[in-house]
Amino acid sequence: MKAVTWHGTKDVRVDEVPDPFVQEPTDAVIRVTTTNICGSDLHLYDPLSPFMGKGDVLGHEAMGQVVEVGSQVGDLQVGDRVSIPFQISCGHCWMCRQQLYTQCETTQVRDQGSGAALFGFSKLYGEVPGGQAEYLRVPQAQFTHVKLPEGPPDDRFAYLSDILPTAWQGVEYAQVPEGGTLVVLGLGPVGDFACRIAKHKGYRVIGVDLVPERLMRLRLRGVEVVDLREHEDDLGDAIRAMTDGRGPDSVLDAVGMEAHGSPATTFVQKAAGLLPSAISAPLQKTAGVDRLNALYSAIDIVRRGGTISLSGVYGGAADPIPMITMFDKQIALHMGQANIKRWIPEIMPLLTDEDPLGVDSFATHRLPLSEAPEAYRKFQEKTDGYVKVQLKPEL
Ligand SMILES: NC(=O)c1ccc[n+]([C@@H]2O[C@H](COP(=O)([O-])OP(=O)(O)OC[C@H]3O[C@@H](n4cnc5c(N)ncnc54)[C@H](O)[C@@H]3O)[C@@H](O)[C@H]2O)c1
Ligand SMILES: [Zn+2]
Ligand SMILES: [Zn+2]
Repeated sequence: MKAVTWHGTKDVRVDEVPDPFVQEPTDAVIRVTTTNICGSDLHLYDPLSPFMGKGDVLGHEAMGQVVEVGSQVGDLQVGDRVSIPFQISCGHCWMCRQQLYTQCETTQVRDQGSGAALFGFSKLYGEVPGGQAEYLRVPQAQFTHVKLPEGPPDDRFAYLSDILPTAWQGVEYAQVPEGGTLVVLGLGPVGDFACRIAKHKGYRVIGVDLVPERLMRLRLRGVEVVDLREHEDDLGDAIRAMTDGRGPDSVLDAVGMEAHGSPATTFVQKAAGLLPSAISAPLQKTAGVDRLNALYSAIDIVRRGGTISLSGVYGGAADPIPMITMFDKQIALHMGQANIKRWIPEIMPLLTDEDPLGVDSFATHRLPLSEAPEAYRKFQEKTDGYVKVQLKPEL
């Protein structure tokens, strides 16, 4: 089959790889109909390169049709239309019973000290072949799927594997009080959906980014936006001026480890990326430093006694964090990968013809797999209006 594979820093290709097949009784194989590129893939494209292997199949946002099942997949059947959550979880261990599916004790990648295995997400998360491919093997398939109704187009459900539940959890974790204000840093796909969800829940929402068309998408939906390019040095003051001088109740960081405007903290990552990966992976894991500008902004912006929710992925082990300010401001911090299936029952009723979240028109690009290399580049550079890219193996 054809699949999008990693070959080096900023080097993804479309290769022929062996077709996946059922290996365990709890496996299923799906024929992928839609699979998206995510901001998380961009971390693998560059800073997390030391943890990648040549030929690794990328992708963790797949949906499609079941074509093969093992003998222990519960009520999952060949022909079912499904979305595949980006984390592989069993549904019956202690963590899964707490709905902490990203911590599944059956699939935890213990030799790396990581939580649940993830599709297409480096050695840190089990080096499981990903879903930017014609077919995907789904381990723990008895639980690692969301059944979808037939009828509506793929667009309706294409974001259930990751960014819609991620944005939902980000807003939940932000603990915005009734009638309160949420600032969303970063208006990529995750921050964009977070703004839409927060607005749907009746909060005041202020979005921040520096890419004109991303700001415009939300302005058109009635979200107040702040252009970071006009406030590189005074973002906190600008937002306090909009929020009674106090700051918002909550801030959601939907940027993560590659924030614009950070000083040269990427030195370790860059240096590690140039070393042979056997040496650089341990080095990066103990010495990695994120580009922390968005987190610093969040700490500055949030009001005293407020909450910061981190959806953006961080991976450093030696990040300098201003504990003095966080302690003094009495900030609550809640973070992590999204526990996808936990939020599906709340999101599903919004995926109707009325389309209150605007999922049907959310994608900016629908491309064949063969165009993945160019799509990765443009999505990373944020050029040509790239916000959310769907890859369609059938095109
Ligand atoms: N927690 C999870 O389960 C989960 C799931 C999916 C994605 N993520 C993470 O969420 C983050 C966003 O993902 P995305 O798909 O929206 O990607 P993205 O990279 O397209 O979005 C990031 C946005 O942040 C903006 N930005 C950069 N620096 C900024 C700054 N200092 N202040 C404000 N905005 C800034 C960029 O212009 C961009 O629009 C990534 O870190 C990704 O890994 C987490
Ligand atoms: Zn994703
Ligand atoms: Zn489990």
